[in-house]
Amino acid sequence: MNPGVDDLKAAFPIFASAPRPFHYLDNAATSQICRPALEALLRFEGQERANVKRGVYRLADAATRAYEQARSRIAAYIGASKPREIVFTSGATLALNMAAHLLEPRLGRGDHILVSVAEHHSNLVPWQMAAERRGARLTALAVDREGRIRIAELERHLTARTRIVALTHISNVTGLITDLRPVAEAAHRVGAVLVVDGAQGPPHGPLLVRELGCDLYAFSAHKMFAATGAGVLWIREELLDELPPFLGGGEMVARVTIPQTRYAEAPRRFEAGTPPIGPILALGAAAEWLMGLDWTVIRGRERALLDKLLHELSRLSGVRLVGPCESEGRVGIVAFVVDGVHPHDVCQMLDQLGLCLRGGHHCAQPLMDAFGVEATVRASLAPYNDEEDIDALVEGLRWTIRRLR
Ligand code: ALA
Repeated sequence: MNPGVDDLKAAFPIFASAPRPFHYLDNAATSQICRPALEALLRFEGQERANVKRGVYRLADAATRAYEQARSRIAAYIGASKPREIVFTSGATLALNMAAHLLEPRLGRGDHILVSVAEHHSNLVPWQMAAERRGARLTALAVDREGRIRIAELERHLTARTRIVALTHISNVTGLITDLRPVAEAAHRVGAVLVVDGAQGPPHGPLLVRELGCDLYAFSAHKMFAATGAGVLWIREELLDELPPFLGGGEMVARVTIPQTRYAEAPRRFEAGTPPIGPILALGAAAEWLMGLDWTVIRGRERALLDKLLHELSRLSGVRLVGPCESEGRVGIVAFVVDGVHPHDVCQMLDQLGLCLRGGHHCAQPLMDAFGVEATVRASLAPYNDEEDIDALVEGLRWTIRRLR
């Protein structure tokens, strides 16, 4: 049964308990947890807790089966061809660091890594570190005035020495969606691997990761309406068995002797130690629940809210949009500045009205530099946001501007 999309707030416990008014517009930082995910987490921790992949007693076996079911549900949600392509991590940051470590052996002295200036630090710093360790060269693609990654710029920089291209799927600052298909084709033409920071992707609906053309895709659970502490690195099956493990430890092995270790098959060989079991089960439950929603309706509504937000912001004197002014090719993430007022001050004022927004550099300082600002305010939408949230934000900004300018 498709849950109603008109009362989605009812599916998120925080909206019943938060003091009013409450307008949560910081979904790009973390979204709220949906009831099925919270229930799965509580059920596991309170009633069904046991370690996975180890015990033979029934409680442990049930936990292992639930864990593998979560893998299958997440695989279905992102359109992986097999559950084994899903590697569980503690979040998108670990997934991207893992990607850098897994791919590092492919880098020789003088080889190239391409990123863009629109990257979140999590998809930049691990590549800087890998480049430094291997004597490789890292180049950041410039973006256009509105923050778009351009294929022409990529083509200009690709060489026979390019081994890795690492780009964002959706910018956490502008909401712009990278057209990954041509990027993947261009990267593969020179034999490079395409790694994608998908942190802002799956929260905006199910996807078909294989059709994006990338090779590795990282995202986190806490932005996908599940708990904090879990994430995923999707690895295209063709690459899975070639890649060396990253962390060593329990349950990633087939046989250990003192001189050497034979590793387990993927994905186990990438999941050393006890995983964040509860948050992973919660992510599986969220994926299952999200799959049942009508995303045509949800996406249409997000687009309408985004149009309204952009329209209202562009009419507010003293407010300047950072990034594109229209809703084409992006999701509901909007950055802006209020002339003469620091984004932190704007956010603290808005907080007094029950509005939760992030102000700062959004862990994307090179993009801030490209835009010529130090920081911005950012509003980011989720399926539970509605017109009231947008009206409250616009009213809140008017009030802030009157008080502070
Ligand atoms: N990556 C998260 C953000 O953009 C934390 O706010």
